[in-house]
Amino acid sequence: MRDPAAIIMQRIEALASISEEAGRLTRTFGSPAMRRANRLVASWMCEAGLEVREDAIGNLIGHYPGATRPSRILLLGSHLDTVRNAGKFDGPLGVILAIACVEHLRRNQLRLPFALEVCGFAEEEGVRYQSACLGSRAAAGLLADTDLRRTDACGVSMADAIRRFGGQPARLKQARFDARRLLGYVEAHIEQGPVLEEKKLAVGIVTAIAGQSRFQCTFTGRAAHAGTTPMRLRRDALCAAAEFILAVEHYAARKAGLVATAGQIQAEPNASNVIPGMVTLTLDVRHQTDSVRRTAGERFQKLARHIAAARRVNVSAQLVQQTPSVACSPKLSGLLERAAKLHQPEIVHLPSGAGHDAAILARITPAAMLFIRCKEGISHHPDESASRRDLRVALAVLNDFLRLLANEYGRL
Ligand code: HGY
Ligand code: MN
Ligand code: MN
Repeated sequence: MRDPAAIIMQRIEALASISEEAGRLTRTFGSPAMRRANRLVASWMCEAGLEVREDAIGNLIGHYPGATRPSRILLLGSHLDTVRNAGKFDGPLGVILAIACVEHLRRNQLRLPFALEVCGFAEEEGVRYQSACLGSRAAAGLLADTDLRRTDACGVSMADAIRRFGGQPARLKQARFDARRLLGYVEAHIEQGPVLEEKKLAVGIVTAIAGQSRFQCTFTGRAAHAGTTPMRLRRDALCAAAEFILAVEHYAARKAGLVATAGQIQAEPNASNVIPGMVTLTLDVRHQTDSVRRTAGERFQKLARHIAAARRVNVSAQLVQQTPSVACSPKLSGLLERAAKLHQPEIVHLPSGAGHDAAILARITPAAMLFIRCKEGISHHPDESASRRDLRVALAVLNDFLRLLANEYGRL
């Protein structure tokens, strides 16, 4: 029998070759690349014996029935979209590991007292619409009509993007999981940080997932000739944005545990000899404690207004989306820890600075996460990597977790 970890690695590589950009991995919500990715992952799900469906927003879901029908459902999985110029593991690894768990059950003719549903969520990164976790929010019934009206950089609404992908925006309510049937959600994901590597551990148990606020800020000055406009008469939107970004960095660097990032920026008219008249930028603010994150967000909005006024520039700083900090389920995390102890002498518990679908699913069902060591903690970068040995440990831990959960099932 082929080494399951080798198959996982091979599938990671195959999925990473599906991109909407030449020469680098980018796979965004509703794109033709996402269609090709769903088709490939659906073929693996079918091979594993899963009953495959795609829901109204494009989430790919594979169902593995329990020993009795109808039974409660444990969700496994992660997201299939990526950031721009992404690494290969962030998202896909959780889906591919979940499929490998089902293949393990089938190979050993095992049926659990509950069903499994492997989820390949349609969108988690928030690249196309700045609003993140669209797939898991649809599954949790948390997507609002206002989101559907959001438009991307080309003016395509989310509703149209869903339709073009083959989804049905009018039927998103049907995509919602029935929380009464759910046992929980478990997501395996690379750590995207340095802790496991520092401790020389393959896997770790996540305690909590940091909350995040995502803002869209627009500075509006006046476009003018770069050669004839004296510095004192300028209303330069890009200089206002630049001063704002540095002020945000200054504030966040002095607040323990706070991170703030201006990741996307667009200057108009974006010509070398024209003073920028309008700048749009995104601001991503995170902290494990929601009150600290919210206070920082309010402070940044005030800062933007203050800097803009001093430069005779207008500004709007809109909160696009926020996700509260979420504690992982002690019950499911305890079973993950017991399973991990069978494969690793020391267990570390660590919070996640990164956002995850688990933070959304936790709103409707107990959620837990297993972190997997990644080289130098690098992520959201093509150098992102995990070792086959660590994937083998992670798969063994998940298989033992399912066995332990099945043993506990009657007492859940
Ligand atoms: O942005 C994040 O934290 C996650 O990788 N989507
Ligand atoms: Mn990510
Ligand atoms: Mn991710």
